[in-house]
Amino acid sequence: MAKNNTQKRIEELRRLIRDHDYKYYVLDQPQITDFEYDQLYQELVRLEEQHPEWLSPDSPTQRVGGQPLSQFEKAQHRTPMLSLQNSYSPEDILAFDEKVKKFLQSEEDIEYLCEPKLDGMAIELIYEQGRLLQALTRGDGETGEVVTSNIRTLRSVPLCLEGTGWPERLEIRGEVLIFKEDFRQLNDMQQEAGALTFANPRNAAAGTVRQLDPRIAARRPLRMYAYAPGGKEGLICKSQEDFIKQLQGWGFATLGRLAQKVPHAQGAVEYYRQTEKIRHSLPFEIDGIVIKVNSWALQAELGSIARSPRWANAAKFKPEQAVTQVKDILVQVGRTGALTPVALMEPVQVGGVKVTNATLHNEQEIQRKDVRVGDWVLVHRAGDVIPEIIEVLKERRLQDSQAFTMPTHCPACGSPSAQMEEEVIRRCLNPICPAVIKESLKHFVSRRAMNIDKLGDKVIEALFDAGMVKSFSDLYRLTKEDLLKLDRQGPKSAQNIIHSIQKSRTVKLDRLIYALGIRFVGDQTARVLARHYGRLQSLLKASKEELEQIPDIGPKVASSIVQTLSQPALLKELDELKKLGVSPEEVQKETHGPKPLQGLTFVVTGSLPMGRDEIHELIVSLGGKTSSSVSRKTSYLLAGEAAGSKLDKAQELALPILDWNQFQQLIAQSPSVD
Ligand code: IVH
Repeated sequence: MAKNNTQKRIEELRRLIRDHDYKYYVLDQPQITDFEYDQLYQELVRLEEQHPEWLSPDSPTQRVGGQPLSQFEKAQHRTPMLSLQNSYSPEDILAFDEKVKKFLQSEEDIEYLCEPKLDGMAIELIYEQGRLLQALTRGDGETGEVVTSNIRTLRSVPLCLEGTGWPERLEIRGEVLIFKEDFRQLNDMQQEAGALTFANPRNAAAGTVRQLDPRIAARRPLRMYAYAPGGKEGLICKSQEDFIKQLQGWGFATLGRLAQKVPHAQGAVEYYRQTEKIRHSLPFEIDGIVIKVNSWALQAELGSIARSPRWANAAKFKPEQAVTQVKDILVQVGRTGALTPVALMEPVQVGGVKVTNATLHNEQEIQRKDVRVGDWVLVHRAGDVIPEIIEVLKERRLQDSQAFTMPTHCPACGSPSAQMEEEVIRRCLNPICPAVIKESLKHFVSRRAMNIDKLGDKVIEALFDAGMVKSFSDLYRLTKEDLLKLDRQGPKSAQNIIHSIQKSRTVKLDRLIYALGIRFVGDQTARVLARHYGRLQSLLKASKEELEQIPDIGPKVASSIVQTLSQPALLKELDELKKLGVSPEEVQKETHGPKPLQGLTFVVTGSLPMGRDEIHELIVSLGGKTSSSVSRKTSYLLAGEAAGSKLDKAQELALPILDWNQFQQLIAQSPSVD
């Protein structure tokens, strides 16, 4: 029967959405705006609702399906999921190579494929006839849990394979993880929602994969990178390198450029050293490298021993951990009144940085770890993630130590603290709690908000304690003379502060919205709101229903916005700010026209005439993306003076390099955004 137009459109939409998912999540090169993507998605949802007879389980709309489970089913891995033997140094790597050669009775150099060792959760995907049938956790290596509904929600996991040449049944293994930046945002959201925060990206990824409600998993930013086959039946590759190429052709995200073929063990040692150096610039956490004999024929010859293959080895990096003693446990009060226990520790070097504080998150977390004043603890710090206490060394505990209990009253204002239903954190509910006001003021002036950069936390505290600043608008009433009344405040710095306050009177609307500290409205959401409404007055009039129509704004965020923006005290404050000359610039409303830098990724380095944040904002506003590390995916390196290793790397990769003038020309030449 001939397909009618609607049916054809449904198929076209599915193809387009799959293709854009692939470009975004696998290639990291989006070609359309989120808004445009959403239009396509909504159209497909509408058509499928009208024609349920054409629904198909591998439609992109069917990623989130199914009801919450009460427990996961178990299933056996056809081929056991082995583990890897570890090594910890270049010498160990060379020793591994020696063992390989000895087993093969060969003196010849062995070619290896080196990959980063991803610090996430291992998953097996099973495809039959090119369709995703099942996803399993590693479990004990023999039997795993069936987590298909959760894994289906990952847009980096193809529901049906691309390309050709896949076997009837295909088993693919890989790692599910969360990018460091996404992890930070997720934890901020969890914290604001009063929910448990995660200790690190790996826990967040593992917790999400084992989440019984797929709708929750769907909202969390998980990604998957494929790196190994399960059973090799039907695969016609000659090497790990071939296999990775096949994976890419079938639509999987792989470690592609980060993987490197080396001709001998010394090359693997080099790779180990290089990768350790760049580990913090990667968007995800890694804890070492995996070295694999490249040839599948040699892999087969080597086989496995005691649950790990002889042809692979995990070379781990030095742990970013250290032991120190807890001197005190303080309870900090945040901008939203959240009470957060923080351990003050004897300063200690972890991964090259001095660490003195570690967050203990909340009461539940502190009880689980049973951290006490005087305890010796193992601390971990990964990149720029907040230091964390991993465990207490109980054998070194002092005999008279006391378990910590959370204060029932706010340590700042003394009013009773409360724990809301479904929240794990305690909050101070006093809206005029001095700590809450101080933290709100600090947030208001912060870099991504009003950017009053000369006004540091200490001065804010002093101004508040002296009764000179109790609200946002009070900042704009300050004079140089007021500031000079503070201890240790010299005329030069007072002048600078006044100047930087003055400068903030003309502010971008999104920054002002973010500065207000509305719960769940981070800088991203503030940008969406500013672009949607253009003027503050329009946002103030928005109803919950209207806000919910905006892509990316859910009911919880919408009601928080409406609730906050209807408080008489805040409205009065906004009025005062206006009278004092704080006027947000009107923002060009989103027009969804072509964006000149769409699909281009920039890395910015060296010193340039505009601030780094401003340049990033500019690029994003013109539809481009920015990244902190140079790779083959980089479209342009924008290099200012004294550009260092990034320039070298870009030259090495023969990437186009722009100076400031060329960058300006690029923007000017592009079709204008109107
Ligand atoms: S290959 C036979 N490649 O390391 C094992 N594993 O100890 C084949 N892992 O649980 C695994 N990154 O979760 C392989 N690039 C990579 C990896 C990797 C991380 C994890 C994996 C596994 C553990 C093995």
